[in-house]
Amino acid sequence: MIARGPLTGQRTVCEPILRALPEWFGIEEATQAYAEQTDDLPTFVAAQDERPVGFLTLRLHSAYAAEISVMGVIPSEQRRGAGRALIVAAETYLRGAGICFLQVKTLSPTHPDPNYARTREFYFAMGFRPLEEFPELWDKANPCLQMIKCLYPHGSGTERSQIRSLSRSTYSRHRPG
Ligand SMILES: CC(C)(COP(=O)(O)OP(=O)(O)OC[C@H]1O[C@@H](n2cnc3c(N)ncnc32)[C@H](O)[C@@H]1OP(=O)(O)O)[C@@H](O)C(=O)NCCC(=O)NCCS
Repeated sequence: MIARGPLTGQRTVCEPILRALPEWFGIEEATQAYAEQTDDLPTFVAAQDERPVGFLTLRLHSAYAAEISVMGVIPSEQRRGAGRALIVAAETYLRGAGICFLQVKTLSPTHPDPNYARTREFYFAMGFRPLEEFPELWDKANPCLQMIKCLYPHGSGTERSQIRSLSRSTYSRHRPG
């Protein structure tokens, strides 16, 4: 399984994948918005024998933080490593850009939907952990769970050097004598 990216202009590739997943992407307005994002935002595409089978789109929030805005793998190819390949490709790109935190918002376990229970299992297996519940962020019928993964468990290289220089100057300011 190969995942390529970051790419833009991927709507024609990604929209059919979204439409193959009506249990997750059943709201037309939201599906259209996700499809549009794949034209403008950094998107990774997984292919099996040259055939696109999945994608992941990132939203960059700050110099330190990014979000998986949407991802999906067509049903016939699920559980064959495409999702993992997409996460690995996206994380490699983000680490290279010095991004430390990757979040994803998904349906909360307070909602009984069995499909999203599988989605949460996937994110958990990929190293994401629940951070906060937002019962009304989308609407009361769709409570949101924010999950997060630390891409640099001990801080990014940039952060580390900033901390070192900060502690050096702090130390020299407060050093007796
Ligand atoms: C969630 C999704 C992207 C995962 O993609 P995938 O290609 O099926 O995932 P992978 O095969 O790479 O799975 C990687 C690991 O995640 C875990 N995992 C994946 N699907 C799982 C499931 N249904 N139940 C439990 N664990 C699961 C497993 O640990 C798996 O490793 P393993 O197969 O070696 O045991 C895909 O199932 C999907 O498109 N779901 C519908 C849309 C969706 O939920 N999108 C995300 C919300 S925007």
